[in-house]
Amino acid sequence: MSTGLGREARLRELGLWPLWRLRRSPTAEVPSAAEAGAPASIAHEAPAADDIAGLGWEDLMVAVRACTRCPLSASRTQGVPGVGDRAAEWLFIGEAPGGDEDRQGEPFVGQSGKLLDAMLAGIGLQRERNVYIANIVKSRPPGNRDPNPDEVAACLPYLERQIDLIQPRLIVVLGRIAAQTLLVTDTPIGKLRGHVHQYRGVPMVVTYHPAYLLRSPADKAKSWEDLLLARRTLAALKSGAAA
Ligand code: URA
Repeated sequence: MSTGLGREARLRELGLWPLWRLRRSPTAEVPSAAEAGAPASIAHEAPAADDIAGLGWEDLMVAVRACTRCPLSASRTQGVPGVGDRAAEWLFIGEAPGGDEDRQGEPFVGQSGKLLDAMLAGIGLQRERNVYIANIVKSRPPGNRDPNPDEVAACLPYLERQIDLIQPRLIVVLGRIAAQTLLVTDTPIGKLRGHVHQYRGVPMVVTYHPAYLLRSPADKAKSWEDLLLARRTLAALKSGAAA
């Protein structure tokens, strides 16, 4: 029986809003480039941007794990390509791997990953189903510092190739660094969120990074609005209507 209330209002009434369920830690082992049988040319060289633009999925994964296109390769454990459904409608893009991601080879597996999974669950999504998760920079910056412009520029061809292969219907960008990088702007994130942008012809919604939300939980409400905007945008696209 319908209560006549929307999802948010129902959750609020129950005192459960914003309620983002937490998931168990993943245990999947990720093969190294050598274990993955990387061809020597990909495992030990830094592919040129033009070459990256022509890679298929398996070579792309191997190339990212072993990439030496920027100095971050000297300090990281492994490159972290991305995870999820390679034919996903939803693409979530973060900044760069942290310590947990560097060790496990999968994006967003630490505390901010738990919150990201809860955010996905809030709009009925799971990381393995119709969702792909990647970062603008695939190697961990030492001490989790912001990636510098040279590192971002060296890594961006990988994300661009991932977008071309996935062909997502909608992109959700997590955090200021990723948003400002992709939109080539220094506009504050507070002004970038709340709008539907375009990136490589794909509608893109900006929201706060889960790590920021862990520090500033009051802004979870804004992030929830952003996720609802993203969901509305995709629904409108699929029904052929304007968002
Ligand atoms: N923060 C990010 O932006 N990406 C990750 O993969 C983990 C933390």
